[in-house]
Amino acid sequence: MNKSILHFIILNILMNQNLVYANTGEKIFKENCSSCHINGLNKLAPSKPIIGSPILNNFNTFAEQLKYGVGVMPAFPNIANNKEDLKALYDYCIKLK
Ligand code: HEC
Repeated sequence: MNKSILHFIILNILMNQNLVYANTGEKIFKENCSSCHINGLNKLAPSKPIIGSPILNNFNTFAEQLKYGVGVMPAFPNIANNKEDLKALYDYCIKLK
């Protein structure tokens, strides 16, 4: 295989990993949250959407909400106990509009 093709492939693999990383928050959200919070809204408690939620003003409050759950919202200890996932999910949530 010629060298520049090899470089091209390696570059693509690296760029793809970056994309995957950048999309982690979105992926976690789609897999765990969108059933109730589609488009950042709240199907079960419409007056408590994610968009504009005071819970998002503070990373620690957000972390607690996921760790213990609130009312009908279940806890997500698997996310809450994984700092990177939690951060990625938080960053995704605060950008929802
Ligand atoms: C089974 C449905 C359900 C799922 C799944 C769910 N939530 Fe919720 N969520 C709720 C309900 C219901 C509330 C309102 C809780 C309350 O205060 O009574 C809520 C509230 C919230 C709030 C606070 C809104 C406010 O201002 O009170 C945030 C932030 C939030 N959810 C984030 C998430 C994230 C992030 C996920 C995914 C990891 C998630 N939720 C998964 C049902 C769900």
